[in-house]
Amino acid sequence: MKVNGTHYRSLWWDADKNALQIIDQRWLPHDFRVQQIDTLTEFADAIVEMRVRGAPLIGATAAYAMALAMRLDPSDSAMNKAWEFFNATRPTAINLRWALNRCRDLLRPLPTEMRASAALTLAHEMADEDVEVNRMIGVHGLEIIREIASKKPAGEPVRLLTHCNAGWLATVDWGTATSPMYHAHDADIPIHVWVDETRPRNQGALTSWELGCHGIDHQYITDNAGGHLMQHGQVDMVITGTDRTTRRGDVCNKIGTYLKALAARDNNVPFYVALPSSTIDWTVDDGVAEIPIEERGQEEITHVQGRLADGSIGTVQVTPDGTAGGNPAFDVTPNRLVTGLITERGVCEASPKGLAAMFPDRAEADAA
Ligand code: MRU
Repeated sequence: MKVNGTHYRSLWWDADKNALQIIDQRWLPHDFRVQQIDTLTEFADAIVEMRVRGAPLIGATAAYAMALAMRLDPSDSAMNKAWEFFNATRPTAINLRWALNRCRDLLRPLPTEMRASAALTLAHEMADEDVEVNRMIGVHGLEIIREIASKKPAGEPVRLLTHCNAGWLATVDWGTATSPMYHAHDADIPIHVWVDETRPRNQGALTSWELGCHGIDHQYITDNAGGHLMQHGQVDMVITGTDRTTRRGDVCNKIGTYLKALAARDNNVPFYVALPSSTIDWTVDDGVAEIPIEERGQEEITHVQGRLADGSIGTVQVTPDGTAGGNPAFDVTPNRLVTGLITERGVCEASPKGLAAMFPDRAEADAA
């Protein structure tokens, strides 16, 4: 997507430097900083510190990390060590393990001298695939927005609510939840987006920045405002992303998503989740019981980062000295609260039947 008129992906390969470039998202929306990743530790830090973040982008980054690992040492033991090292960086988004497995499955049977170039080619392919998959999510999600728009007086915007950043920054391009928004905007369907701030990391500010760059009308709201807006008929549809979707359609996404789904159900507002199939964990059924929820540092709760009056980026403490913070980073929304799953192949029911019918090939192979 575009930043000041220039098209960017959230990561890209610089062939001259033979290295990966990322947008260091810790400084957005105030500062657009690009970082080159040269070492395995830098790759791991980029994921752990959320310089790159969002399930699909974490997966794509991991593929490039494996490519670097193979360039440094293509042996079986180095490959397995790299798999373990990167798989431990963040526990919830399944795209990480999906990407690492895909790399290892391709590389294992290859002679060691072929592994480095094969791994890099695969990383490029996976990045390109992610772009196309997310574009298709937008194509399918657009039809839902179009349908809602057709029932409204001409010119009245479809009001969408989203949580966290499931935008192009969270993927290689397009985003998941935002892709239908970009497609609707480009199709001249008027939309207005309510953007949850998404404490504690305020990923909503990333979403606001993205939507602003694309000229999409939006408002940044507190995490607690959604229920009130729904009660007053000001939300036509909720659309979020997911970090892990179980085979029965439970969705694990940024903390607070579940409360939005409950409010949506209570107010008859459709609650859709947009996802690439790489986010489905076919080995898991009950998301609440089985998905590991990342617990992040308490300083993310007790402190907040932003732009200071002098223009610099700073951090301030919001709690009294010594107050302990608790920081579960994700929650699970049970399938019964999900109106539909918007995937690259189309929209399906959030149920074992719905997902298996949409992905018969994956359901059998990946659950094995
Ligand atoms: O902790 P983050 O910022 O990596 O969490 C991101 C989310 O929860 C997104 O909603 C999710 O990854 C879907 S992204 C397309």
